[in-house]
Amino acid sequence: MSKLLLPEIKEALALIKEGEIIQANEAFRRLFHLERLPVSFAKLFENLPEDFGLFETCAKRPDGTHFEAEVVFLPFENSLQQLLVRDVSERRATEKMWLQAERLTAMGKLAGEIAHEINNPLGGILLYANLLREDLPAESSLLTHVDKIIKLATRCRIIAKALLNFGHPEDSLEEWVNLNQVLREMFSLIEDHRLFREVHINWELEKGLPFVQGNRSQLEQLVLNLIINAGEAMQGRGNLFFRTKFDPKEEMIILEIEDTGPGIPPEIQDKIFDPFFTTKTGGKGTGLGLAICHGIVKRHRGEIEFESHPGRTLFRVKLPKIHLENE
Ligand SMILES: Nc1ncnc2c1ncn2[C@@H]1O[C@H](COP(=O)(O)OP(=O)(O)O)[C@@H](O)[C@H]1O
Ligand SMILES: [Mg+2]
Repeated sequence: MSKLLLPEIKEALALIKEGEIIQANEAFRRLFHLERLPVSFAKLFENLPEDFGLFETCAKRPDGTHFEAEVVFLPFENSLQQLLVRDVSERRATEKMWLQAERLTAMGKLAGEIAHEINNPLGGILLYANLLREDLPAESSLLTHVDKIIKLATRCRIIAKALLNFGHPEDSLEEWVNLNQVLREMFSLIEDHRLFREVHINWELEKGLPFVQGNRSQLEQLVLNLIINAGEAMQGRGNLFFRTKFDPKEEMIILEIEDTGPGIPPEIQDKIFDPFFTTKTGGKGTGLGLAICHGIVKRHRGEIEFESHPGRTLFRVKLPKIHLENE
């Protein structure tokens, strides 16, 4: 076969004759981990093109691995066919992540609007329930019912308030925030809670950590939500790690909160940031903690991710370092 058949091109390129790949450039061999030719064209792709043109499919390597591929299939001289293949797995994964982020932002916005609508009537319910309570004689058997209304309506108010906090786009993001200090202060607020009494705390805070650029009260809420989740997961026993460090390459401050709780089961891992997703029964969870964290981190142009397996869960937040005018 003439050498001229494969032009100098960086993309993975191959020639097909009667269903066999008879020539492939270096990029093609590398992409498919091919050791020798010819190989059957049909074996490399999940779906074969019915016509010439561009198509997307799953590409299968002879060694059993696969990737998402974009393929251009064209006629060539002497009734050969030409095949150009590109691995788009990474691009697809990024697109998926963006879609997920967009969905969460939209859900967060909607939740905030609903909370706004619910807040006023809820105030009314509480007001009238309290009036009723005052008017009932102390020995009335209806008192317990009224107390229940007040208790449940108060709970709704707390949820609505958390939802309203979602938005706050008007908050300034220009403060200089010392994340080490935020961590220490937020933990001191709850350390006496029974959830943390038998938990061993490991402080691994980097000295001289640069300031984060952002909104202090939002960052406090972020840290608090993550600490509470860790505490609830460990159910009062275990090891909790607070870690901060600076990544000079990305100019990001990294915060890690790690617990030795049961971990997040794989089947719910892509739902935990959704508003109202909770595994805590009996009214113990609102499912808003992580959705709020996600909103706060996005507003700060940061990132939030987690790693989890039984016995260990780590939430990692990356936040941008303060940007100085004269830098
Ligand atoms: N540190 C953790 N360990 C195990 N599971 C966790 C952890 N943090 C969050 N989760 C899971 O994610 C779910 C959602 O968390 P969150 O949004 O804070 O809502 P809530 O705490 O009200 O349930 C929790 O119900 C729990 O199943
Ligand atoms: Mg929570």
